[in-house]
Amino acid sequence: MKRISLTQYLIEEQRQHNNIPESLRLLTEVVGRACKTISHAVGKGALGEVLGSAESENVQGEVQKKLDIISNEILLEANEWGGHLAAMASEEMEEIHPIPNRYPMGEYLLLFDPLDGSSNIDVNVSIGTIFSVLKAPAGMKNPTEADFLQPGSKQVLAGYAVYGPQTLLVLTTGNGVQAFTLDREMGAWVMTQKNMQIPADTKEYAINASNARHWFPPVKRYVDELQQGSTGPRDKDFNMRWIASMVADVHRILTRGGIFMYPADARDPDKPGKLRLMYEANPMAFLVEQAGGAATDGKQRILDIQPQKLHQRVAVFLGSKNEVERVTGYHLQ
Ligand code: AHG
Ligand code: MN
Ligand code: MN
Ligand code: MN
Repeated sequence: MKRISLTQYLIEEQRQHNNIPESLRLLTEVVGRACKTISHAVGKGALGEVLGSAESENVQGEVQKKLDIISNEILLEANEWGGHLAAMASEEMEEIHPIPNRYPMGEYLLLFDPLDGSSNIDVNVSIGTIFSVLKAPAGMKNPTEADFLQPGSKQVLAGYAVYGPQTLLVLTTGNGVQAFTLDREMGAWVMTQKNMQIPADTKEYAINASNARHWFPPVKRYVDELQQGSTGPRDKDFNMRWIASMVADVHRILTRGGIFMYPADARDPDKPGKLRLMYEANPMAFLVEQAGGAATDGKQRILDIQPQKLHQRVAVFLGSKNEVERVTGYHLQ
């Protein structure tokens, strides 16, 4: 099999489709490099003294794990000096991080969830990094939070790395979804899947069922029908998977289909779901749509949502198109 590196893929994409200008290629390669560094730290585990919690909380009120902070630092440091970015924003930082004056300012904005699946770090289950790239508004001088508040449909690039049995980088620039596997000996990203496609139908769903008593009626109805299996209105048996790392759940769906749900529920009217629009929902929605799937908040397409604030949360239903359409339909009835 001919090996296509990440660099070769990005250069050929630009030649054929003119969609990855040089500075976006640099950005992608720098993020890819940072993910290799994070993968290395993750892989050291207890030997690298990277497990366990730090003594801080992030703006979402979550106790930060050491690896949340380490991964955030790695991404910041890797992306500061290249001249490709104007500013960054992260799940782990309350405020945006403009590029320091000593470096030239670029035209892109980078958003990330540096370490997704924090609760799985210490138990050696797959975790990842999620990222999203926007263009800075034309004429922007000093980046502010408002410059980031663009709907997901404006993303020029999105992707994630999974640190699992293999380390993978999965990307879209709006022309399909490609996956690269880290060749650990060579330290290189090698393309291993081209044009990933999510089947429209599935027999697999993912939801944290411990919240069932708080669900709103459309979610209750939908999941209840799945659970009735071949004796119910769906006429087939469904299987369930919940990894509690969004990257790993979404990667399974990109690989073999399925529906992933993290709904809003009755607990807190001010908290529409758990997942973050800008760092989790938007990049994953972009990837899933590029693979032929769908992503909604139960009512509308995630990529159409106009963000009101950086750390905004959102309900998420994504994956196999026919299932996402069905549960969205139940919300709209
Ligand atoms: P993070 O570790 O970045 O804070 O995200 C965790 C998210 C997501 O990865 C996962 O799907 C979800 O939280 C799991 O939530 P529950 O623990 O409620 O199942
Ligand atoms: Mn977190
Ligand atoms: Mn996350
Ligand atoms: Mn995180």
